[in-house]
Amino acid sequence: MKTIIVKDEQAGGQVAFEIVAEKLQAGAKVLGLATGSTPLAFYKKLRESDLDFRGLTSVNLDEYVGLAAKDPQSYRYFMDKELFESKPFAQSFLPDGLAEDLTAEVARYNQILDAHPIDVQILGIGQNGHIGFNEPGSDFESRTRVVDLAPSTIAANARFFEEPSQVPKQAISMGIRDIMQAKTIILMAYGSNKAEAVEQLITGPVSSALPASVLQHHADVIIIMDEAAAEKLEA
Ligand code: GLP
Repeated sequence: MKTIIVKDEQAGGQVAFEIVAEKLQAGAKVLGLATGSTPLAFYKKLRESDLDFRGLTSVNLDEYVGLAAKDPQSYRYFMDKELFESKPFAQSFLPDGLAEDLTAEVARYNQILDAHPIDVQILGIGQNGHIGFNEPGSDFESRTRVVDLAPSTIAANARFFEEPSQVPKQAISMGIRDIMQAKTIILMAYGSNKAEAVEQLITGPVSSALPASVLQHHADVIIIMDEAAAEKLEA
């Protein structure tokens, strides 16, 4: 596990951008993408770059159940605005939050993951240590499935919605095993509200109580954080 402490999100986005650019140069074809505030600066760097993604595939971590692609709170909408409209990929996969048959949708997504092994996976981290929407207690062998969001996650994500009651209670999320199969993982964390989770991720026991701690078992993980997110780590 490699750790990099940066001044701020812009610097972190630049570092992540450079790693991704290098991997693409080396032949990476599939990017695993994340939503949330954490990767915003990274996506800005991608948008402003001269990188061309039209020969690449992207696979996103998760989507809320019950939100249409055109809903401004959906992760599909987020990805379109932050990246795909400026930098289209050959194909971009996200779970369909409005699928009538969620079991079939989960199976479809797992087939997509099997067909497109992820070269570089981008991750943020929840304050409770979740990755994707793999909440505390998630099985390390889990694959894509419908998950119930933890009350703390619903509260944390309420800032994006007009009313806390509008926050979906479920999502379709790639599983921990799916994330761990990525060849390289870049996790970014910014702000003191992530410091506890970051400390546990790096120095805590590997436990499903803090899902991100599983990354200690991955051979190629880079953690990019600002000083606030690193404040609980020993020098
Ligand atoms: C969300 C997403 C995660 C994200 C995390 C942190 O609920 N499902 O993929 O990493 O929570 O979000 P943020 O980057 O906004 O702090």
